[in-house]
Amino acid sequence: MTQKAWAFLGGKQVPLEDAKVGVMTHALHYGTSVFEGIRGNWNEKLGKVSIFRLREHYERLQRGCKILRIDLPYSVDDLCKITTDLLERNGYRQDVYLRPLAFKGQQAVANLNLNALENEFMLVILPFGSYIDNTRPLRCQTSSWRRPMDSSMPTGVKISGLYTTSILAKSEAIAAGFDEAILLNQDGSVSEGSGENLFMVRDGIISTPAETDNCLLGITRDSVIRLAKDQLGMDVVQRHIHRSELYLADEVFLTGTAAHLTSVGELDNRAIGSGKTGPITQRLQDLYFATVVGDNDDYADWCTLVTPSGG
Ligand SMILES: Cc1ncc(COP(=O)(O)O)c(C=O)c1O
Repeated sequence: MTQKAWAFLGGKQVPLEDAKVGVMTHALHYGTSVFEGIRGNWNEKLGKVSIFRLREHYERLQRGCKILRIDLPYSVDDLCKITTDLLERNGYRQDVYLRPLAFKGQQAVANLNLNALENEFMLVILPFGSYIDNTRPLRCQTSSWRRPMDSSMPTGVKISGLYTTSILAKSEAIAAGFDEAILLNQDGSVSEGSGENLFMVRDGIISTPAETDNCLLGITRDSVIRLAKDQLGMDVVQRHIHRSELYLADEVFLTGTAAHLTSVGELDNRAIGSGKTGPITQRLQDLYFATVVGDNDDYADWCTLVTPSGG
């Protein structure tokens, strides 16, 4: 028998099938919401789900809420507790994806003034496998869509309306037979993938676009920067990267909660290095996977372990 799925909406846990909003919800019309994508990784040995960097995800959600004037009645601690309680109740014994959304919930269609709109918060948890095939290096395309500058749209947080750009870019790449899109920013520097940050390795130096290149401040990005420094003794350089530098790189890889750490084998029909997963990418990938399931004792504090309920 499949277990009943539960969501969180309106300040309480409700059956998933009852978690509904009205057709005039402001966020539905204007993208006035802030979301997070969080993974829970099933650890068979421990019999627990390891939620990766839960607190940091809610800190980023709160930063987005501040920008969008969404005042939630919950602290980061409250949000973490809401999440672990819901995960426990859902009882999943497998990898899961957690999707919190803070949104302008008012039934208000013709209203572009954020200030007096009601705020809501919801959370759903879904069984989740791989988002992108990371058993082989990806084939990527430089997108014809550009990542917006922060002067048009805040880019360091996950405001839902911003994702139209990512969706157009990803869809264009898939329709052209590629796996993923790489977006440049308005200045023409490399920014990131449609839902991932980007790293490049050249002559033994790891680089990634700087915050000022309008990429999302990814939590996996931060984790990889720290793993590279602490465990491989390699500092990651954060700087502008030109598109053509990627063609000449020895290794390129993408990082994100959904995509994990995935090697790029080809960009715009040019092989990156040998076209295979490079040695630094491989070492970081191994470290990353051990860390997210809670098997790297040095980073135990990055993982919130939850025991699923029996049913
Ligand atoms: C546009 C974009 N860039 C990068 C990332 C990677 O961020 P994180 O590692 O926090 O999941 C994501 C995913 O959340 C994203 O949507």
